Amino acid sequence: MKVALFQFSGTGNTWFVAKHLQEALERLGTVCSLYAIERLSELDLGTILEEADMVGLGYPIYGSDFPRPVSEWIETLPHVHNKRAFVFCTQMMYSGDGAAIGAKALRKKGFTVRQLMHVNMPNNITDYRIVRWVKPTPSGRLRRRVKRKTNGFVHSVMQDKRQRKGEGLGSLFLGLLQRVPTGGLKESSRSALKIDDTCIGCGRCVELCPTSTLSFADGRVHVGKECCFCYRCVNHCPVKAMRFSKRSKVKRPYLGPSPEFDIEEVRKHRLKE
Ligand SMILES: Cc1cc2nc3c(=O)[nH]c(=O)nc-3n(C[C@H](O)[C@H](O)[C@H](O)COP(=O)(O)O)c2cc1C
Repeated sequence: MKVALFQFSGTGNTWFVAKHLQEALERLGTVCSLYAIERLSELDLGTILEEADMVGLGYPIYGSDFPRPVSEWIETLPHVHNKRAFVFCTQMMYSGDGAAIGAKALRKKGFTVRQLMHVNMPNNITDYRIVRWVKPTPSGRLRRRVKRKTNGFVHSVMQDKRQRKGEGLGSLFLGLLQRVPTGGLKESSRSALKIDDTCIGCGRCVELCPTSTLSFADGRVHVGKECCFCYRCVNHCPVKAMRFSKRSKVKRPYLGPSPEFDIEEVRKHRLKE
């Protein structure tokens, strides 16, 4: 069986879970290819979908909603006929119907989605005092928890056993409760990224930005209108010069789910390897 697993990950959590899913699926005899949604234009989506027996989709939750690159990617998906798919999302705490919104969007494209999963991962918002208190889980414990969870999920996928998450009315209600107000915040924050004068002009943020909204000209970084609020630049700026918050500066950046994690990994996809 061939599985095409698509993921978008701002700071590595979703990639980490996707990688565990890939390993667990391959242990059970499938061929699972991992693709980065942010490299969409380099992928021949039609062929990948045609060749895959099953599709997986993973994304981080932003205010109980998709990151914009993911909703745009779903829009470009061709209609299929009853192809199997599974969906997972990562979150720091709670999303309500986080995975269910992905399942619903895929079903509209003709996919059959029966397995949904939420995975709680470390918080990557490091410039707001209000959520900075959510401490990262130690990496050993995190790895064990993700392994356990992804193994169980993969067994449900392989046996096509229904695994519902976030599809109840209560979850839908709580998801909406977060989605409606933060939807506005997400729009206005597209140009709310601030770069202070400690910026050394190294261009690392420009290089890492998944939507290419950052550019470098006249010795400084310019912010365009396509910011998707992923926090990759905020957390990987070597001098902590970037932030969304008006008041707080990043104290301890979130550099990923394990000490050996390399941010370059989240952007890799199989066609280039
Ligand atoms: C803009 C933004 C909004 C977020 N909103 C939520 C949320 O509503 N609920 C939640 O539990 N976590 C929320 N988070 C935390 C992330 O979903 C979580 O840390 C996720 O695992 C990050 O995944 P990534 O490293 O793959 O980007 C938010 C993070 C960001 C950057």
